[in-house]
Amino acid sequence: MNILGINGSLRRQSLNLSLLKAAGDHLDQDTVFDIVSLADLPFYNEDLDGDNKPQPVVTFKQRIEDADALLFATPEFNHSVPGVLQNAIDWASRPAFNSPLTHKPTAILSASMSPIGGARAQAQLRTVLHGTLSPVYPSIEFLLGSAHQAFDDSGQLIDETAQARLQRYITGFQEWLARQA
Ligand SMILES: Cc1cc2nc3c(=O)[nH]c(=O)nc-3n(C[C@H](O)[C@H](O)[C@H](O)COP(=O)(O)O)c2cc1C
Repeated sequence: MNILGINGSLRRQSLNLSLLKAAGDHLDQDTVFDIVSLADLPFYNEDLDGDNKPQPVVTFKQRIEDADALLFATPEFNHSVPGVLQNAIDWASRPAFNSPLTHKPTAILSASMSPIGGARAQAQLRTVLHGTLSPVYPSIEFLLGSAHQAFDDSGQLIDETAQARLQRYITGFQEWLARQA
Protein backbone atom coordinates (compact mmCIF):
# COMPACT_ATOMS: atom_id res chain seq x y z
CA MET A 1 0.00 0.00 0.00
CA ASN A 2 1.32 3.36 -1.10
CA ILE A 3 -0.31 6.45 0.43
CA LEU A 4 0.50 9.98 -0.69
CA GLY A 5 0.15 12.87 1.78
CA ILE A 6 -0.95 16.23 0.40
CA ASN A 7 -0.69 19.32 2.60
CA GLY A 8 -2.61 22.48 1.74
CA SER A 9 -0.04 24.70 3.47
CA LEU A 10 3.39 25.66 2.13
CA ARG A 11 4.50 27.08 5.49
CA ARG A 12 7.70 25.58 6.94
CA GLN A 13 6.16 25.38 10.42
CA SER A 14 2.82 24.16 9.08
CA LEU A 15 0.63 22.59 11.74
CA ASN A 16 -1.02 20.55 9.02
CA LEU A 17 2.36 19.19 7.96
CA SER A 18 3.01 18.13 11.54
CA LEU A 19 -0.43 16.52 11.62
CA LEU A 20 0.25 14.61 8.41
CA LYS A 21 3.53 13.33 9.85
CA ALA A 22 1.78 12.26 13.05
CA ALA A 23 -0.84 10.46 10.94
CA GLY A 24 1.90 8.66 9.02
CA ASP A 25 3.13 7.16 12.28
CA HIS A 26 -0.22 5.36 12.66
CA LEU A 27 -0.21 3.71 9.23
CA ASP A 28 0.52 -0.03 8.94
CA GLN A 29 4.22 -0.80 8.95
CA ASP A 30 4.17 -2.10 5.39
CA THR A 31 2.51 1.07 4.08
CA VAL A 32 4.77 3.45 2.19
CA PHE A 33 3.85 7.03 3.11
CA ASP A 34 5.30 10.08 1.43
CA ILE A 35 4.26 13.74 1.50
CA VAL A 36 4.34 15.62 -1.80
CA SER A 37 5.18 19.33 -2.00
CA LEU A 38 2.84 21.64 -3.90
CA ALA A 39 5.35 24.52 -3.88
CA ASP A 40 6.52 24.19 -7.50
CA LEU A 41 3.12 23.96 -9.16
CA PRO A 42 2.29 26.99 -11.34
CA PHE A 43 -1.18 28.52 -11.34
CA TYR A 44 -3.57 26.45 -13.38
CA ASN A 45 -3.77 27.69 -16.95
CA GLU A 46 -5.55 25.61 -19.54
CA ASP A 47 -3.12 26.95 -22.17
CA LEU A 48 -0.36 25.04 -20.33
CA ASP A 49 -2.49 21.91 -19.88
CA GLY A 50 -1.74 20.32 -23.24
CA ASP A 51 0.90 17.89 -24.46
CA ASN A 52 3.77 19.87 -22.93
CA LYS A 53 2.66 20.38 -19.35
CA PRO A 54 5.04 22.04 -16.88
CA GLN A 55 7.33 19.36 -15.39
CA PRO A 56 6.14 19.89 -11.78
CA VAL A 57 2.60 19.17 -12.98
CA VAL A 58 3.66 16.00 -14.79
CA THR A 59 5.51 14.82 -11.68
CA PHE A 60 2.60 15.68 -9.35
CA LYS A 61 0.04 13.86 -11.49
CA GLN A 62 2.31 10.82 -11.71
CA ARG A 63 2.70 10.78 -7.91
CA ILE A 64 -1.09 10.66 -7.57
CA GLU A 65 -1.40 8.02 -10.28
CA ASP A 66 1.14 5.81 -8.48
CA ALA A 67 -0.54 6.15 -5.08
CA ASP A 68 -3.19 3.70 -3.87
CA ALA A 69 -4.79 6.44 -1.78
CA LEU A 70 -4.40 10.10 -0.81
CA LEU A 71 -4.34 11.60 2.67
CA PHE A 72 -5.07 15.33 2.65
CA ALA A 73 -4.35 17.78 5.45
CA THR A 74 -5.74 21.24 4.97
CA PRO A 75 -5.76 24.53 6.80
CA GLU A 76 -8.84 26.70 6.55
CA PHE A 77 -8.33 29.96 4.66
CA ASN A 78 -11.29 32.34 4.66
CA HIS A 79 -13.72 29.50 5.34
CA SER A 80 -12.41 27.42 2.44
CA VAL A 81 -9.36 25.45 1.32
CA PRO A 82 -6.20 27.43 0.51
CA GLY A 83 -5.80 28.38 -3.14
CA VAL A 84 -2.60 26.32 -3.21
CA LEU A 85 -4.59 23.15 -2.58
CA GLN A 86 -7.46 24.00 -4.91
CA ASN A 87 -4.89 24.81 -7.62
CA ALA A 88 -3.15 21.46 -7.16
CA ILE A 89 -6.46 19.61 -7.35
CA ASP A 90 -7.41 21.55 -10.48
CA TRP A 91 -4.21 20.39 -12.22
CA ALA A 92 -4.73 16.79 -11.09
CA SER A 93 -8.41 16.76 -12.08
CA ARG A 94 -7.93 16.83 -15.85
CA PRO A 95 -9.08 15.26 -18.08
CA ALA A 96 -12.35 15.48 -16.22
CA PHE A 97 -13.69 12.15 -14.95
CA ASN A 98 -10.65 10.32 -16.36
CA SER A 99 -7.88 11.89 -14.29
CA PRO A 100 -5.46 10.54 -11.68
CA LEU A 101 -8.06 11.59 -9.10
CA THR A 102 -10.90 9.61 -10.62
CA HIS A 103 -11.91 6.82 -8.19
CA LYS A 104 -8.80 7.52 -6.05
CA PRO A 105 -9.66 6.86 -2.39
CA THR A 106 -8.96 9.77 -0.07
CA ALA A 107 -9.15 10.86 3.54
CA ILE A 108 -9.07 14.36 5.02
CA LEU A 109 -7.45 15.85 8.10
CA SER A 110 -7.46 19.48 9.11
CA ALA A 111 -5.73 21.56 11.74
CA SER A 112 -6.51 25.13 12.64
CA MET A 113 -5.83 27.48 15.50
CA SER A 114 -9.57 28.07 15.75
CA PRO A 115 -11.63 25.83 18.06
CA ILE A 116 -13.54 24.27 15.14
CA GLY A 117 -10.40 22.91 13.53
CA GLY A 118 -11.00 23.76 9.87
CA ALA A 119 -14.48 22.21 9.68
CA ARG A 120 -15.58 24.56 6.91
CA ALA A 121 -12.47 23.83 4.82
CA GLN A 122 -13.10 20.10 5.19
CA ALA A 123 -16.68 20.51 4.01
CA GLN A 124 -15.43 22.46 0.98
CA LEU A 125 -12.78 19.86 0.23
CA ARG A 126 -15.36 17.06 0.33
CA THR A 127 -17.40 18.94 -2.26
CA VAL A 128 -14.33 19.40 -4.47
CA LEU A 129 -13.43 15.70 -4.20
CA HIS A 130 -17.02 14.80 -5.07
CA GLY A 131 -16.46 16.80 -8.27
CA THR A 132 -13.31 14.84 -9.10
CA LEU A 133 -15.06 11.49 -8.38
CA SER A 134 -12.58 10.76 -5.59
CA PRO A 135 -14.27 8.78 -2.80
CA VAL A 136 -13.66 10.17 0.68
CA TYR A 137 -13.37 7.82 3.68
CA PRO A 138 -16.87 7.92 5.18
CA SER A 139 -16.23 8.82 8.80
CA ILE A 140 -16.79 11.48 11.38
CA GLU A 141 -14.27 14.18 10.45
CA PHE A 142 -10.84 14.38 12.04
CA LEU A 143 -10.60 18.03 13.07
CA LEU A 144 -7.79 19.43 15.19
CA GLY A 145 -8.89 22.67 16.82
CA SER A 146 -6.56 24.96 18.80
CA ALA A 147 -3.83 23.15 16.89
CA HIS A 148 -1.08 25.55 17.98
CA GLN A 149 -1.46 24.07 21.47
CA ALA A 150 -1.38 20.44 20.36
CA PHE A 151 2.24 20.23 19.17
CA ASP A 152 5.56 20.84 20.84
CA ASP A 153 8.27 23.05 19.32
CA SER A 154 9.63 20.16 17.26
CA GLY A 155 6.23 19.44 15.72
CA GLN A 156 5.40 16.35 17.79
CA LEU A 157 1.72 15.84 18.55
CA ILE A 158 1.68 15.97 22.34
CA ASP A 159 -2.09 16.20 22.84
CA GLU A 160 -2.82 12.61 23.86
CA THR A 161 -6.55 12.80 23.20
CA ALA A 162 -5.90 14.08 19.69
CA GLN A 163 -3.27 11.38 19.18
CA ALA A 164 -5.78 8.68 20.14
CA ARG A 165 -8.45 10.17 17.87
CA LEU A 166 -5.93 10.34 15.03
CA GLN A 167 -4.98 6.72 15.52
CA ARG A 168 -8.65 5.67 15.36
CA TYR A 169 -9.19 7.73 12.20
CA ILE A 170 -6.12 6.37 10.40
CA THR A 171 -6.83 2.78 11.43
CA GLY A 172 -10.40 3.14 10.20
CA PHE A 173 -9.13 4.66 6.95
CA GLN A 174 -6.85 1.70 6.30
CA GLU A 175 -9.62 -0.78 7.14
CA TRP A 176 -11.85 1.04 4.66
CA LEU A 177 -9.08 0.94 2.03
CA ALA A 178 -8.71 -2.81 2.56
CA ARG A 179 -12.45 -3.24 1.96
CA GLN A 180 -12.15 -1.31 -1.34
CA ALA A 181 -9.53 -3.71 -2.70
C1 LIG B 1 -5.23 34.01 4.54
C2 LIG B 1 -5.62 33.27 5.78
C3 LIG B 1 -6.95 33.02 6.05
C4 LIG B 1 -7.32 32.29 7.18
N1 LIG B 1 -8.63 32.01 7.39
C5 LIG B 1 -8.98 31.16 8.39
C6 LIG B 1 -10.34 30.71 8.53
O1 LIG B 1 -11.22 31.08 7.79
N2 LIG B 1 -10.61 29.83 9.54
C7 LIG B 1 -9.63 29.35 10.38
O2 LIG B 1 -9.93 28.54 11.25
N3 LIG B 1 -8.36 29.78 10.28
C8 LIG B 1 -8.01 30.66 9.30
N4 LIG B 1 -6.71 31.04 9.15
C9 LIG B 1 -5.72 30.53 10.11
C10 LIG B 1 -5.07 29.25 9.60
O3 LIG B 1 -5.99 28.20 9.64
C11 LIG B 1 -3.88 28.94 10.49
O4 LIG B 1 -2.92 29.95 10.26
C12 LIG B 1 -3.30 27.58 10.24
O5 LIG B 1 -2.36 27.32 11.22
C13 LIG B 1 -2.60 27.50 8.89
O6 LIG B 1 -2.23 26.18 8.65
P1 LIG B 1 -0.71 25.69 8.75
O7 LIG B 1 -0.28 25.86 10.17
O8 LIG B 1 -0.75 24.27 8.33
O9 LIG B 1 0.10 26.56 7.84
C14 LIG B 1 -6.32 31.82 8.06
C15 LIG B 1 -4.98 32.10 7.79
C16 LIG B 1 -4.62 32.79 6.67
C17 LIG B 1 -3.16 33.05 6.38
